[in-house]
Amino acid sequence: MRKKTASRTSDLLRFGLASLILACLSFSAYGQEGTSDADRIWKKSCRKCHDKDGSGGTPAGKKLNVKDYTSAEVQASLTDEEIISATRDGVKDSDGEWIMEPSPELTEAELAALLAMIRGFAIS
Ligand code: HEC
Repeated sequence: MRKKTASRTSDLLRFGLASLILACLSFSAYGQEGTSDADRIWKKSCRKCHDKDGSGGTPAGKKLNVKDYTSAEVQASLTDEEIISATRDGVKDSDGEWIMEPSPELTEAELAALLAMIRGFAIS
């Protein structure tokens, strides 16, 4: 009888330990995901128009006349603040129509990561 209780206790302990290890593993996997937030957001919400290399060479990007972020001139013409506010607040054309939807759900950290990513597109 006693023995049975003891082994049940150690089963519980083992289960608890396994859950703890699993929780740690999934937490660290989540952390790694966090470092590529900008990649994930870019693929999901920006690439369609701005292209995977930031050149704006997609059909939608060409149609909307988006700027080429691989160009040093374009990079120099944009301040960090402009990049962040355009990403968060969107862009309207001269008729007041959205040409780029705002993304109010982005956190400060995600906006900063996207800014770094856009700056990283420069090649010339
Ligand atoms: C529907 C197409 C579309 C999508 C999707 C889109 N953009 Fe834009 N974006 C535009 C257009 C059009 C402009 C204004 C034209 C231009 O580039 O001058 C613009 C402008 C910008 C600007 C301001 C600098 C500039 O080029 O004038 C930034 C920064 C920017 N976009 C980042 C992003 C990010 C980051 C995402 C994803 C969260 C995104 N865009 C998604 C079309 C899009």
